[in-house]
Amino acid sequence: MSVRKESRPDRRIRVVVVGRGKVGTALARALPSKKYLVELRSARTGPVPRPNADVIVFAVRDAQLLSVAGAWASCVAPKSVCVHVAGSMGPEGLAPLRNRCRGVAQMHPLASFADARRAPDLSGVHVHVQGDAKARTVASAMARALGCVPRSMPKVDLVGYHLAAALLANGSAALSAAAEAALVRAGCPSQLAHRLLGPLLRTVAENVTNLGSIRALTGPVRRGDVTTVLKHLRWLEANAPATQRGYQAAVKFQLEMARALGEALPRDLDAIETAVLTSSRSRKSTRA
Ligand SMILES: NC(=O)c1ccc[n+]([C@@H]2O[C@H](COP(=O)([O-])OP(=O)(O)OC[C@H]3O[C@@H](n4cnc5c(N)ncnc54)[C@H](OP(=O)(O)O)[C@@H]3O)[C@@H](O)[C@H]2O)c1
Repeated sequence: MSVRKESRPDRRIRVVVVGRGKVGTALARALPSKKYLVELRSARTGPVPRPNADVIVFAVRDAQLLSVAGAWASCVAPKSVCVHVAGSMGPEGLAPLRNRCRGVAQMHPLASFADARRAPDLSGVHVHVQGDAKARTVASAMARALGCVPRSMPKVDLVGYHLAAALLANGSAALSAAAEAALVRAGCPSQLAHRLLGPLLRTVAENVTNLGSIRALTGPVRRGDVTTVLKHLRWLEANAPATQRGYQAAVKFQLEMARALGEALPRDLDAIETAVLTSSRSRKSTRA
């Protein structure tokens, strides 16, 4: 006797990602297809009714979040939850949707997404989740499915939190650009420079994770090596004057860390501080 196979209903969680930029594309691709049925939509083409969506993820630029949420207000279903991925806003970033759905939340990945075609490895990345209970639960489950760690810090000042993330992620990329230019100026082939710096940055990241930021400091400032810092300052003066300010600012931060570590002689750290201050003063007086 032949038994006709019944087609089983698709029980996957239906996700609509609004925003085909760097984050939206990465999340849409990374959500496991066994559990999630994902539709990636352009934000600029406007909203469309999605009565079956369990989750709508808004991954648009911060300045556009409220207006895109407002445009979607008549298209979200009461059963959906809505989340956004911006760092500096809590659930209020989706205020126009709050009474239209089951709840709204922030779901901010503490990762750097630089290219829609090449998503970062999300395993172990922390995702800040804040908002209404149901939306928090759904966002946390999505974060776990991505291999991330959901985190909730209800008392954190989100502007300060986002500033910290932007300072590190974007400041590192800026420092890397300055280091790359210096390497090339020093004679390294330009196509090789960023390849040398990436793994170096990875070891710094590992040290920060394993030891904490202060103990991750290495180099001449930690050792109180005045001669090497003076050589750096002279080289910058001659070869990359535009990078001097950035170097000086970085050394000032490092001096505080080196003093806290206490491995260098205080008089050597004072000498480094004087050298940095003198070089910035002489630069100002040259410009005047
Ligand atoms: N990038 C990161 O590292 C990162 C990390 C964590 C959180 N976030 C947050 O994620 C959200 C999205 O950031 P993102 O980096 O993915 O931004 P993005 O790549 O600039 O894409 C965001 C949106 O910008 C639109 N867009 C792209 N090019 C445009 C243009 N020329 N003119 C007007 N709109 C344009 C896209 O619209 P279409 O959908 O129509 O193509 C897309 O929806 C932000 O809230 C950000 O704070 C970013």
